[in-house]
Amino acid sequence: MIFRQLFDSTSGTYSYLIASRRGAEALIIDPVLEKVDRYIQLLNELDLRLVKAVDTHLHADHITGLGALRDRTKCITVMGEETKADVVSMRVADGEKLDIEGVSLGVIYTPGHTDDSYSFTMADRVFTGDTLLIRGTGRTDFQNGDSRAQYDSIFNRLLKLPDQTLVFPAHDYKGDTVSTIGEERAFNPRLQVKSADEYAALMARLNLPNPKMMDVAVPANMRVGFVQEEIAARGWALSAADAKALMGDTRVAFIDLREKSERERHGEIAGAIHAPYPDLQDNVGKGGLLQVLATSKRLLFFCAYGERSAMAVQAAQDAGLASACHIQGGYDAWRKLAS
Ligand SMILES: [Fe+2]
Repeated sequence: MIFRQLFDSTSGTYSYLIASRRGAEALIIDPVLEKVDRYIQLLNELDLRLVKAVDTHLHADHITGLGALRDRTKCITVMGEETKADVVSMRVADGEKLDIEGVSLGVIYTPGHTDDSYSFTMADRVFTGDTLLIRGTGRTDFQNGDSRAQYDSIFNRLLKLPDQTLVFPAHDYKGDTVSTIGEERAFNPRLQVKSADEYAALMARLNLPNPKMMDVAVPANMRVGFVQEEIAARGWALSAADAKALMGDTRVAFIDLREKSERERHGEIAGAIHAPYPDLQDNVGKGGLLQVLATSKRLLFFCAYGERSAMAVQAAQDAGLASACHIQGGYDAWRKLAS
């Protein structure tokens, strides 16, 4: 197992790089924009291929590295389904799994600090974002924060994990790097309360100043920028309605880039070929599935929201597959059309 806790001293943010071994797929949690060069260097040094970049929530104190990592590595960007950030190409929900080669993270919805806050479990540890910090908890006074929801997330979800579970938060300002669930239950001053009301009263008394970066970071993190707009400008995008008109046309191959779990949860387009986005480079390469298919058919990619498929169109076009296009807005737009 490769596990790296990386620190941005300006914002006090911890980011986590995870992979099963050298040469394998990698995932990063809560990357910081200013540190992206460092992450890329480390990925190269460890011979890792970044396939997923995950934010635990919409950050108010730093600009996310999700957009830059997407642009430089073509990775999938992941957040919870409640998020309003545009950069996200895959949305996860409570109880799902977040998988890369050899590593599977559990997904827990832990709202309270924000309404899009998630925690992720992995074997002996949990990444708690700003929900549970070491001897502290994330503030709940902006970004749709809710101290009672946070009480529920902490007491009824995170503290139900085994006592020895290692706690890796998104921030620390004192120099602590890791704690455990048992230690936090016993010694975290915010958790020495008997009810949600008592916790809400404690949080209401904090009166914290707004983060220095808040006015810059929140809007920047919500509008990182779509890949889809560039692809549409090149004429490689179809509306969901136009795509629907091509159903049953034997000259067109619908290519579903989503993961198995997304197909099971949201539904499929009948007759679509499943070619998950992480396998794209192999599939569009020489002798690959899509390279072969493109000799007789027009490739019509789609994913959940159109971001992965936009990147896939670019990759396919770069590989010489000139017929490649995608459904703007993805399966989400397709489904809205049907309803
Ligand atoms: Fe936060």
